[in-house]
Amino acid sequence: MKIEPVTGWSLGISGKSLLNTGAANRANACITPPFSPIFMMPSQSDKIPVNPNEISKPVLAEAKEALIISVKTAVSPPMTHLPIATPQAIKYEVMFPEGRDFTYEEVFEMIPEYDVLCSMFDFPVNKELIDHASKLRLIANYAVGYNNIDVAYALEKGLTVANTPDPVTAPTANIALGLMLDTARRITECDRKLRTLGKDMKVGVLENLGMPVTGQTLGIIGMGRIGKALAKRANALGMDVIYHNRRQLCIEDETKLNVTYVSKEELLAKADFVSLNAPYTPDTYHILGEEEFKQMKPSAILINTARGPLVDEHALVKALREGTIHGAGLDVFEFGDYPLPELLEMDNVVLTPHIGTQTMETRIIMARTVCNNVIGFLEGNRPVSRVLRP
Ligand code: GLV
Repeated sequence: MKIEPVTGWSLGISGKSLLNTGAANRANACITPPFSPIFMMPSQSDKIPVNPNEISKPVLAEAKEALIISVKTAVSPPMTHLPIATPQAIKYEVMFPEGRDFTYEEVFEMIPEYDVLCSMFDFPVNKELIDHASKLRLIANYAVGYNNIDVAYALEKGLTVANTPDPVTAPTANIALGLMLDTARRITECDRKLRTLGKDMKVGVLENLGMPVTGQTLGIIGMGRIGKALAKRANALGMDVIYHNRRQLCIEDETKLNVTYVSKEELLAKADFVSLNAPYTPDTYHILGEEEFKQMKPSAILINTARGPLVDEHALVKALREGTIHGAGLDVFEFGDYPLPELLEMDNVVLTPHIGTQTMETRIIMARTVCNNVIGFLEGNRPVSRVLRP
């Protein structure tokens, strides 16, 4: 059946790794009843069959709502074979890049035509883009973090901004916990030494000693959803948990989570592990720098799974080199996707390339959440996870 050009709403999906991770295509997760079906082009790299031609009629019949969206990509013509889709049934048009990312310049050029922009957490949605987007009504970010968006300006212009907090919480807390255990117990370091040194690696009851974790103190900076999820995990390990946050939790929540509110200074002085779980805002930029490292214990380990610029990475290198603090487990870096080269040389540092939410299950649920936000916004039939303030 031929699909005619569509009028009405359009959704622009842009941004790095929406396609790299297959996330845009994973938006097809929405075909699962009772969600509205969204048809997406299959990409070569997909592990999940997403060819709309393979979507069976029974699946569609089961879906409570039949919201049919035609899909165009930057490089292919519009899809021409959708089962049971009639031109009348098509309500929305989705555009996404195929095999590569849209550049900022491409999005800038296309954006005046679009009502919705689905952006990745590292795609800049700045004043210039917002001003150019004359039809834009919704920015749906594929992330819990939204520091890539000028939220204050978007809200001022009457736009809605949405994010994906729920699916991100547990996986990010899990990575923070993993980095804590790994750095403290030297798991990656020992693995690396065994592989490279083989039988030349020194082993023995007093070699490769680590930190106990159990009975030690975790200081969490930023007690939102991820901070709380990490506190629960630390409780289970027998750790004491102290925290610092913009606002103190209510006493019931503190009791339930078994956490104690302290000033930032007290947290830095007492914690064996300092975990950053705060959003990146002008207030949290370099929340840890040279001065703060000096306030920490020489045995302390820093964990950052939030955003790189929360830490002055040059100061961190210096603190680690000089033994001001003991180690670091980092999933994010100040200057983009890669750490400063000095960090790569340090055995007391565990580095992961922003994999906090990197499981297929999480990717699918995040994509589904973006779709739900978009459809909820456009159709008004399901909750939208709105960002209410910068
Ligand atoms: C990941 O970093 C996110 O903000 O969801």
